[in-house]
Amino acid sequence: MAKYHIAWLPGDGVGNDVMDAAKIVLDTINLDAEYIPGDIGWEFWKTEGDPLPTRTIKLLKETDCGLFGAITSKPNDEAQKELAPELKSKGFVYSSPIVRLRQTFNLHTNLRPCKAFAGNPLNYRDDIDLVVFRENTEGLYAGVEFQPVPDEIFNALMSHKKMKKFENVPLDDMAISTRIFTRKACQNIVRQAFEYAKEHNRKSVTLVEKPNVIRETSGMMVQEARKIAKNYSGIELWETNVDAMCMWLVKNPQIYDVLVSSNMFGDIISDLSAQLVGGLGFAASGNIGDDFAVFEPTHGSAPKYAGMYKVNPTAMLMSVKLMLDWLGEKKDAKKLEQAIADVIKDGKVRTYDLGGDNTSLEVAEEIAKKFEQL
Ligand code: IPM
Ligand code: MG
Repeated sequence: MAKYHIAWLPGDGVGNDVMDAAKIVLDTINLDAEYIPGDIGWEFWKTEGDPLPTRTIKLLKETDCGLFGAITSKPNDEAQKELAPELKSKGFVYSSPIVRLRQTFNLHTNLRPCKAFAGNPLNYRDDIDLVVFRENTEGLYAGVEFQPVPDEIFNALMSHKKMKKFENVPLDDMAISTRIFTRKACQNIVRQAFEYAKEHNRKSVTLVEKPNVIRETSGMMVQEARKIAKNYSGIELWETNVDAMCMWLVKNPQIYDVLVSSNMFGDIISDLSAQLVGGLGFAASGNIGDDFAVFEPTHGSAPKYAGMYKVNPTAMLMSVKLMLDWLGEKKDAKKLEQAIADVIKDGKVRTYDLGGDNTSLEVAEEIAKKFEQL
């Protein structure tokens, strides 16, 4: 029996292309793993009304972790139009399967390293090496939303004096998305960020929130961060508002080590950070819980490139690297990152985004070759 059981979830569009690239590298590494394919994505929404079928949840429960390609997400009204005719008006509501995966398996920590590889022509600067920790299950992503607003919710909110402004708005003309934080999740994400900083000799952790306006939720995160920081001497806690952070990340990205934020702000700053080191083709991530994790590149499914093997597989292969780390295969993880860095530096085999004309698979083969030489 294989040592690891890994759920293989290509998803939509170029998800399949980059997963094929991942397979080339994993076969070379010769990881003692069985890869078990799982259904997830738009196709299953259209034909079954569920992009994350129950059988896939069951499969994931039987595996050690998942490797995931990409997903197509559309707003609910567009999703309804694409539903198979016999499923229409049966009450199916589209929700992003990756967000659901994070919540179903309590994958509370989203780890997103953004490192400028030497020789990458797309680097904004060559000295950027930061890691984003994004809270992954709560906040604006928890999905506690109302439209129209039910009477009982409206009435409960009316006890708040700031609701006066809304008292005469018809409930059908109002939409509410909640931003719920728990102390436990705030503590967890900040602690993960500090633990990472400690393990990797990083000097600072920057908390990115907006407590001057969003007093209660962002405020709770700040409170907890200040307490936790006291346990890590030698690592500074920097506090920055999310808007200012976007400016600082463009002005001085090289000064940052570890960033930590809530779900929505973390989503935003991780795309900004990814662009500083070459764009989403370089943006790897790990959705990590206490004993289960799903690794994925953070780029979308890019339907227009699907099946063309055109997109940069680096984000996917760096996600494989994160998976190897998490599984405890540290030596192979390090070697894989080195192989990726070497191929980028050599500059001979490159996808279109880097000015080359190689396929995703050719890049993966080159990385696999380097890996074997290390
Ligand atoms: C990401 C993506 C997802 C998110 C989408 C696809 C739902 O943007 O992983 O950053 O918003 O979390
Ligand atoms: Mg995102």
